[in-house]
Amino acid sequence: MSKISIEAHDTVTSTMDIARELARQGREEGTVVVAGTQTQGRGRSSSEWFSPRGGVWLSVLLIPPTEAERSHRAVFLSGLCACTVLRELCDLDTVIRWPNDILFGGRKLAGVLGEGIQADDTFYSIVGVGVNTNFSISALPEELRNETTTTLDILGREVDNESIVVAMAELLVERSVELSGGYGRILDEWLESSDTVGQIVDVDGSPAGRAVRLDDEGFLMVEDESGEEKRVVSGNLRYAGDRALRKG
Ligand code: BTN
Repeated sequence: MSKISIEAHDTVTSTMDIARELARQGREEGTVVVAGTQTQGRGRSSSEWFSPRGGVWLSVLLIPPTEAERSHRAVFLSGLCACTVLRELCDLDTVIRWPNDILFGGRKLAGVLGEGIQADDTFYSIVGVGVNTNFSISALPEELRNETTTTLDILGREVDNESIVVAMAELLVERSVELSGGYGRILDEWLESSDTVGQIVDVDGSPAGRAVRLDDEGFLMVEDESGEEKRVVSGNLRYAGDRALRKG
């Protein structure tokens, strides 16, 4: 088992803030920050991440064996680990929507955020994972409810948040050695766990074309109507087939 050390808090602004501070102090890889609730939880693209009590809100310090420019790799690995753990511990048929939304039945169950920090001569990748577990979507703002789900709403019972945190952090730390070199195995497993390739996609609200493959770093190649391939490196992806779900 990989070595992890968990710092549990009741209320924080964001577990990412606490993890950044711990990185500045030079803490070890595998340091995990968990909170009962976050008052300023953040998601990708500077969005707000609602973090009611009952959910799994954690950040993990990784020291990846690769350059800072490749810190996106840790984020793809985190999405894969989140998907794997939810499948294994909660027996849920989850899939990944590029870049790292974890979906069940087309609705978002978990999300992953990556941030980097250089502290003295060490580059830390801080990965934050939020999983909607032991609360109902009625705890979330109305505009999020059509596209979101929670394990409580799916299973009708509570899950063991602590086991999810431990399994996720251990798997991440154990597999972070695979982030150097080609990291093809992670991308192969990521693809097997994802339903994105083959979909007609919208990126940041605009139609982009059909997702055809990942490139060697995990960025998404999308083919537009004229057959031209474009590389998508970031953004919020939606499947054209789910437009009705978004409207409710
Ligand atoms: C996303 O899908 O937009 C990413 C969401 C990431 C949320 C988690 S919850 C724990 C950690 N702390 C934060 O403020 N954000 C991440």
